[in-house]
Amino acid sequence: MNVILVGPPGAGKGTQAQRFQETHSIIQLSTGDMLREEVASGSELGKQFKEVMDSGTLVPDDMIISMISSRIGKDDCKIGFILDGFPRTTPQAKALDQMLGEKELKIDHVIEMKVDDDAMVKRITGRYTCAQCGAGYHDEFQQPEREGVCDHCESKEFTRRDDDNPETVRSRLQAYHDQTAPILGYYNKKGVMETVDGMAAIDDVTEQMNAILG
Ligand code: AP5
Repeated sequence: MNVILVGPPGAGKGTQAQRFQETHSIIQLSTGDMLREEVASGSELGKQFKEVMDSGTLVPDDMIISMISSRIGKDDCKIGFILDGFPRTTPQAKALDQMLGEKELKIDHVIEMKVDDDAMVKRITGRYTCAQCGAGYHDEFQQPEREGVCDHCESKEFTRRDDDNPETVRSRLQAYHDQTAPILGYYNKKGVMETVDGMAAIDDVTEQMNAILG
């Protein structure tokens, strides 16, 4: 099963994709995480990515398409994948169709996570991640069971993203509405679009997605 999650920054794409990776034996492919890995490597390319990401705009299509194409070609994706943060433009959606067609694969579900923009700033500025295993948390909405200790690996170190500040979030929301929202019409025409209420509580969103994905 191959799935795409679409939604503005903070909609819960990463939160739900992490859960489905654990429960449905499919691979989470997050272009944001891939870009952040390149930034963390300290490479020249990573420095270019960081500048774009900190401004809240999108990395050029050709760079992203080549990055995801080589990732989808790896063996672990054969069991199925859930795309989180890709495609984000119509050229990316078309390139994805082409690369899947060449491998005789297809997208089974595109799930739009509908949310209110105003709530996203609070969600994003409260987000933090385990520095060791990458599990996601929130100051208010998703706290670890023991304060300051990761539920998954017991690490006590956490990080926050440089682009999770109110100014950059507003640019990211603008980029979503201008450049990403048009792909919803593209997938609607293909008959693979589904919608969930991303404003519901995290567990409720998972239930809505379970009803779609089985
Ligand atoms: P990326 O890393 O993809 O960020 P994003 O799309 O802005 O999405 P986020 O990760 O911020 O949000 P999310 O929907 O995953 O929310 P989460 O589950 O964490 O991209 C970053 C940058 O990389 C982009 O700006 C761009 O520059 C570049 N980039 C990436 N892909 C690209 C591409 N394809 N093309 C070009 N450029 C690209 O949830 C947020 C918080 O809310 C968490 O703390 C969570 O606990 C909480 N939460 C989640 N769901 C709920 C809920 N239902 N109720 C309450 N709280 C909730």
